[in-house]
Amino acid sequence: MNIRLLLTSAPVDKAEIEEKTVIVIDVLRATTSICAALRAGAKGVIPTAGPGEAGEMRAKLGGDAVVLAGERNGVRIENFELGNSPSEFTADAVEGKYVVMTTTNGTLALSRANKGWKVITAGLVNITKVAEAVGSEDRDLLVVCSGREGHFSIEDTICGGMLIHRLASLRKGELELNDAASLALLLYRTNQSSIRQAISQGEHARFLASIGFERDVEIATEVDSMPVLPILKDGRLVASE
Ligand code: MLT
Repeated sequence: MNIRLLLTSAPVDKAEIEEKTVIVIDVLRATTSICAALRAGAKGVIPTAGPGEAGEMRAKLGGDAVVLAGERNGVRIENFELGNSPSEFTADAVEGKYVVMTTTNGTLALSRANKGWKVITAGLVNITKVAEAVGSEDRDLLVVCSGREGHFSIEDTICGGMLIHRLASLRKGELELNDAASLALLLYRTNQSSIRQAISQGEHARFLASIGFERDVEIATEVDSMPVLPILKDGRLVASE
């Protein structure tokens, strides 16, 4: 299995990914919140580029069927029901509804990589579920770390490294890695006994703590606490069995 990891999201060539499974990671917080929404019974999460497109999607699907969620600069977008804290995605808020979501980095990364043979979202909260799903298939992977506004982020890279670590044991070591994937694996292995601490010291976690979202970092670093497999189907992330 060949694994190419991108340390930040960038437009990807359709020809490169149409035969690959793409895994998009945004630990803080989009791909954690996507798991939370699906676990709480949302029918699906529809990633959109911006608030305007999200509003159009609501008009198309009907107001009662949709909850708008997302952030800019970490805080809830005006006139949206939900922000991007995983704890907001309760059954009361989202059960039976589509969550139309727009975030600064996570949904952007998804839109850039949505032409993969299969597209899955991953965080620490569903890492084993994702590893088991892709580890049982003989298909090459593109792992996209969303990063932060074009820059490397420690939380997404550790998560990518953890995924590769899990795959190395599931597939008994037979992996071919690009240098970024090797770096992610090394970063994970160096920090594996103190993942939360390493992530909490990172730029994005410090920013979230500074605006009152410290608890979100704790939720996002609870490994395997939301074992759901979000797969993109017809533009919607749905929970796969
Ligand atoms: C993003 O997609 O940029 C993030 O999820 C930002 C955040 O809500 O912390």
